[in-house]
Amino acid sequence: MTIRDSFSGRFGIIAAAAGSAIGLGNIWRFPYLCGQNGGGAYVLVYLICVALMGLPIMLAEFGIGRSAQSNAYRAFRILSPRRPWYLIGVMGILASFTIMSFYSAVGGWTIEYIIRSITNSISGDHAMQFNDFISGSYTPLFYQFLFLALSFCIVMMGVSKGIEKTSKILMPLLLLLLIVLCIRSVTLPGASEGLKFLLKPDFSKLTGNSILLAMGQAFFSLSIGMGCMITYGSYIKRNEDLMSSAGMVAGSDVLIAILAGIAIFPAAAAFNIEPGAGPGLVFITLPGMFEQMAGGMIFSAFFFILLCIAALTSSISLIEVVVSFCSEEMRIKRGLATVLVVGCIFLLGTLCSLSLGLVPGLRMFGMNFFDLMDFISSNLLLPIGGFFITIYVGWVLRKRITVKELTSDGSLKFTGMRFFYFLIKYIVPVAILIVFISGIL
Ligand code: TRP
Repeated sequence: MTIRDSFSGRFGIIAAAAGSAIGLGNIWRFPYLCGQNGGGAYVLVYLICVALMGLPIMLAEFGIGRSAQSNAYRAFRILSPRRPWYLIGVMGILASFTIMSFYSAVGGWTIEYIIRSITNSISGDHAMQFNDFISGSYTPLFYQFLFLALSFCIVMMGVSKGIEKTSKILMPLLLLLLIVLCIRSVTLPGASEGLKFLLKPDFSKLTGNSILLAMGQAFFSLSIGMGCMITYGSYIKRNEDLMSSAGMVAGSDVLIAILAGIAIFPAAAAFNIEPGAGPGLVFITLPGMFEQMAGGMIFSAFFFILLCIAALTSSISLIEVVVSFCSEEMRIKRGLATVLVVGCIFLLGTLCSLSLGLVPGLRMFGMNFFDLMDFISSNLLLPIGGFFITIYVGWVLRKRITVKELTSDGSLKFTGMRFFYFLIKYIVPVAILIVFISGIL
């Protein structure tokens, strides 16, 4: 047996898990969904979901992973042999493919925007430019491929060398740049409308469906509900405090999402861009702002480089879930497994890209293939996965095991234990069910 690769220390695991959590979900997906679902009220529901559902589930996932010391599928096999709980892991693998199919497309867009910034070709009608680009034939596919190739290289380098090092240096830089952008955005003339939109809840805009979207976003943004944090949990050293790690990860994740909102909505208001502009919101709004800044193209290049890297640290976590399954369970060599997984993602991802323009007929259930993959992952697979993880930790897994993990073998005090159990046994599963059913109907 080889010793499992593990993150090298406290900062390492937080940076890596935060690297997985922080990505396009915060900076691209959160603002555009927020814009489409009425702003402030949506943000509030999202925050509640993160605190009351997201955090307990993340903790549960970390606990399962560290206790079993293995990937999501094997973890359930070890902790509950001969019971079908491993299906959570199987579902996670499915979720990983559906998420990566559209995630890699958007990751490709960030590369295109890096190049546009460097070649100084961001000007004119940003909405038109964006739509022309994503509905084109080969260019988006080429960049999607490039994005996947980069992810492939990092996954091949292994956990501590590739994933950890990249996250440690670049995540703090992203935070810094985002703060600069926020300052620029709120000082634009007419910005206050946008800020009001983001911060002032208008509850008349909330529907069952928008609550489901907010919950789905909380899951998506925290990388929970599909075993990703189980796999990462298995890399956490035994003496680390899981609660404070989960708190830091969720806290920084929310912080980045809110900052992204503050960078985008005031600017959108200043430039008369509809907040409900859809998946292009970030790519339409921010270029307008960069154009008006001194040295804007440098900021723009920096921003899209950091966004691309944030997307990469998330995408490798998604790929790693499947690769660790293939290499540890199916005994396929890691290199071959990575090639196969990334290849399949590219095939599925091609359909996502093409459905945005070239092949408009790629539609099902009233959605194009891109939106469909997004909907299936965040609003179906992740909440269902999260539901079963809470049931598992709340009702099936022996309490002794959970307590042992949460207190790091009894060396730490975990004061919130009863509250944690109360949430995980009753509140979270019931809430997921209610939101899920009212959102689907
Ligand atoms: N959380 C990432 C983001 O916000 C995406 C992501 C990475 C993810 N790993 C995941 C989402 C696992 C769900 C499950 O961009």
